[in-house]
Amino acid sequence: MELCRLFALVLLVVRLVFHGDAEDSELEALLSFKNSVDDPLVALNNWKAGTDVCQWIGVSCSSVGRITGIQLDSLSLSGLLPFSTIQTLPQLRTLSASGNNFTGIKISPQKCSLEVLNLSSNDFTSHFLDILLVTCKDIRQLNLSHNKLRKISLKGTIGHVMVSVDLSHNRISGSIPASFFTLCKSLRFLDVSSNQLVGGVPEDMFINCRSLQELSLSSNNLTGEFSGLRSSNSLQKLNLSTNVFTSFQIEHCPTLEELDLSFNNISGTVFRKDCGSLKMLNLSDNHLSGPFLSVFANRTLATVFKSLKVLQADHNNFIGELPTVPPSLEVLDLSCNFFSTGNPNICPARSSLKSLLLVYNRLHGRVLNSAMNCGNLEMLDMSINSLAGPIPVDMCSRLPKLQHLLLWGNNLEGSIPATISNCSELVTLNLSFNNLTGVIPQQISGLKKLWLLLLSNNMISGAIPASIGSMLSLRSLVLGHNMLQGGLPSELRNNKGLTLFLVNDNQLTGQIPSWIGRSSEVEEDKITEVTFPFLMVFAINIEASICKAYEEVFILQGIRLDDFEQLPFATRCRRWFFLAPPGFNLTIYSLVNSPLAIDLSHNSFTGTIPEEFGGMRDLNVLNLAHNLLTGAIPSTIGNLKNLEWLDLSQNWLESHIPDSLGNITFLKYLNISNNKLFGRVPQIAQLALFPVSSYEGNPGLCGFPLAECASLHNPFHDDHKDENDGDGHGDQTILAAIVGGVRDGRHCLHV
Ligand SMILES: *[C@@H]1O[C@H](CO)[C@@H](O)[C@H](O)[C@H]1NC(C)=O
Ligand SMILES: *[C@@H]1O[C@H](CO)[C@@H](O)[C@H](O)[C@H]1NC(C)=O
Ligand SMILES: *[C@@H]1O[C@H](CO)[C@@H](O)[C@H](O)[C@H]1NC(C)=O
Ligand SMILES: *[C@@H]1O[C@H](CO)[C@@H](O)[C@H](O)[C@H]1NC(C)=O
Ligand SMILES: *[C@@H]1O[C@H](CO)[C@@H](O)[C@H](O)[C@H]1NC(C)=O
Ligand SMILES: *[C@@H]1O[C@H](CO)[C@@H](O)[C@H](O)[C@H]1NC(C)=O
Ligand SMILES: *[C@@H]1O[C@H](CO)[C@@H](O)[C@H](O)[C@H]1NC(C)=O
Ligand SMILES: *[C@@H]1O[C@H](CO)[C@@H](O)[C@H](O)[C@H]1NC(C)=O
Ligand SMILES: *[C@@H]1O[C@H](CO)[C@@H](O)[C@H](O)[C@H]1NC(C)=O
Ligand SMILES: *[C@@H]1O[C@H](CO)[C@@H](O)[C@H](O)[C@H]1NC(C)=O
Ligand SMILES: *[C@@H]1O[C@H](CO)[C@@H](O)[C@H](O)[C@H]1NC(C)=O
Ligand SMILES: *[C@@H]1O[C@H](CO)[C@@H](O)[C@H](O)[C@H]1NC(C)=O
Repeated sequence: MELCRLFALVLLVVRLVFHGDAEDSELEALLSFKNSVDDPLVALNNWKAGTDVCQWIGVSCSSVGRITGIQLDSLSLSGLLPFSTIQTLPQLRTLSASGNNFTGIKISPQKCSLEVLNLSSNDFTSHFLDILLVTCKDIRQLNLSHNKLRKISLKGTIGHVMVSVDLSHNRISGSIPASFFTLCKSLRFLDVSSNQLVGGVPEDMFINCRSLQELSLSSNNLTGEFSGLRSSNSLQKLNLSTNVFTSFQIEHCPTLEELDLSFNNISGTVFRKDCGSLKMLNLSDNHLSGPFLSVFANRTLATVFKSLKVLQADHNNFIGELPTVPPSLEVLDLSCNFFSTGNPNICPARSSLKSLLLVYNRLHGRVLNSAMNCGNLEMLDMSINSLAGPIPVDMCSRLPKLQHLLLWGNNLEGSIPATISNCSELVTLNLSFNNLTGVIPQQISGLKKLWLLLLSNNMISGAIPASIGSMLSLRSLVLGHNMLQGGLPSELRNNKGLTLFLVNDNQLTGQIPSWIGRSSEVEEDKITEVTFPFLMVFAINIEASICKAYEEVFILQGIRLDDFEQLPFATRCRRWFFLAPPGFNLTIYSLVNSPLAIDLSHNSFTGTIPEEFGGMRDLNVLNLAHNLLTGAIPSTIGNLKNLEWLDLSQNWLESHIPDSLGNITFLKYLNISNNKLFGRVPQIAQLALFPVSSYEGNPGLCGFPLAECASLHNPFHDDHKDENDGDGHGDQTILAAIVGGVRDGRHCLHV
């Protein structure tokens, strides 16, 4: 009995002593780590001897006080990671030191028992993968992404317990060493995207990776035929995007759900087998050609795909007829191809199609009718084709869920049907650049959710319907280049959220009402928000002498800005662009207190410029050129602190130039030429820096840049004409606030 008790006591003491030693040595290890690491922010300040290790920043312990994890993410640590100081901690399973500035690692060949290692987002350059994999054989999750690694292991191999490897966003070059994957039976996730890998992917490279679910090789320079997955029974996501693969053959895809082949050089047939579980297929930007179904060995899409939801095949060279989609499909993008003919059966019965993009093809004739069976459509974009015929009268009863209808740049004829009001979900209606005639139906006011109404560049006549005043969601009203007549209806004063009001180049008459110049507070609780899926471009002609000066809004999707720039719509004149990127949150629209752009130019407005115009706090662009305006330039214009563009040319304005114009510090473009202004050009701020063309054609005006005031009898100095704007004042920061409400100019492009 005694002996027994004694034995128990000894055991207890031994355990206590052993335990204590262990803790001490763990503490020592961490202190030695701390002493070896560069810690400029003293982030490890509570790592101190004599305190409880388990309370130290970033340290996690087991219930008996052994260190199991070290989490040192984003602490600005730098230098060499002193891994050797802690690698032998017997219970350490997790080390995470992402988002620091480590450039290398000190590692000893002793064993380690780490299971999770996260060193992503550092500055590692050295080649330590080999030794790491040999030393820490139990690692299951390895994240070395966003570093500057140059090599994958040449002789090492990922162990058979490895589950997840992320080496993306490094500088790894050369070809993928096949030996790296010889033991990969547990591997489920592999990402080596955004490196500089070259060469082909051998057919058997991943043959042992029988658990592989997700593989990304995207954004490298991999070439040749990809056939590396002959035997995969587990793969769910495959991303080969942005390489130079020339062909892709899929033989076996029992589990595949996402396949991204975009931005390669692929041609020919891709699908010889059915891929019943595929949900997303991206074939964008390849060299696929011929009839669409040739990619699928001439079988119908519904045969090959049972679950496909998203199909992107834009930017290829497809010709012929539009395909019939499988009933499961929700998104189809076939923009930027050479499709020429419609297909009345694009949508089968019970189609789920919500978004149909057919932008910039060669579709001609009444192809709009082809979409009329797609009863669930929310987005229809057939812009930049040669669609002809009228907008179907029954469109809205057949497509009652439409939110965005974009048909700009076609040859649609006839008038806008009054039944358009039945598209009550409509947020965007873009029918610009067509041959539409007739009047704007007053029923259009039924579109209570409409934010963007773009009808410019048609042959629409009649008056602007007063009913538009009841469309309280309206943010952009763009009616330029039509044959509209009459005055601006006073009901428009109710459109308090209107930010772009462009009615240039019509036959509008009457006085410019003062309420346009309102500045109203938007009530916070009235703020709605809409996220638009597409890119928006605001364009201004800067060569008013070549083209009529006017503003235009373009909505781009399916095509990219590069494509757009090749189109006559864009290249007719030099313009500034401002872009709101896709997914842009337009809450900002409701937060402005006044319009951002007003263009009433090239009409027959009479009377004076209302004093109230000076109240538009957010106004960037004011264009009243080519009207019959009389009276003075109101000095309140000087209050428009955000004004960047002011054109009052070709009117009958008769006054001094108010000194207050010099207060508009952001003014980049000024044109008050061809009026009856008189007196001296104020020599203040940038007013004196504008060229002669800004002021010419006002016989009573003098002073630099015009003639000295003494020589008033000859105010024309045509020899200065070529000082015209040109590049000098072209500044891409203009309009930064137009759509974005941000003034960083990042989305601006100066073409
Ligand atoms: C550390 O990294 C951050 C972000 O990765 C970087 O902004 C910073 O300049 C780096 N500091 C040093 C000293 O390299
Ligand atoms: C690896 O870390 C990066 C952050 O640097 C993160 O974005 C990525 O999702 C991580 N990878 C995995 C597989 O968790
Ligand atoms: C690693 O760190 C990154 C960034 O802190 C984080 O996104 C990721 O989830 C972490 N874990 C893994 C396993 O990559
Ligand atoms: C791919 O190769 C081309 C031409 O050799 C090179 O310009 C490009 O930078 C490479 N891309 C990557 C991601 O390495
Ligand atoms: C494939 O990778 C690229 C980046 O390399 C990424 O932009 C794209 O979204 C990925 N595709 C999918 C389907 O996740
Ligand atoms: C892609 O293919 C086209 C012709 O099909 C060829 O002109 C081009 O050089 C290829 N691009 C690359 C990067 O191999
Ligand atoms: C391909 O399309 C899919 C689905 O729209 C998208 O998630 C993916 O990001 C696209 N790939 C690239 C490289 O843009
Ligand atoms: C598909 O049909 C076209 C004729 O319509 C034919 O030229 C082509 O060889 C067929 N492709 C396959 C893979 O059967
Ligand atoms: C428009 O909607 C109304 C009521 O919702 C309906 O009575 C009418 O028939 C519809 N008209 C058309 C042409 O779809
Ligand atoms: C429609 O517009 C195109 C160019 O915009 C023009 O060539 C064509 O003559 C117009 N058609 C009609 C019927 O006005
Ligand atoms: C838009 O902004 C609102 C409010 O700030 C936010 O709740 C919403 O998530 C944003 N939407 C997107 C797509 O960013
Ligand atoms: C604007 O300009 C006028 C005339 O030059 C000046 O009197 C006034 O103080 C200025 N106002 C502001 C706010 O700068």
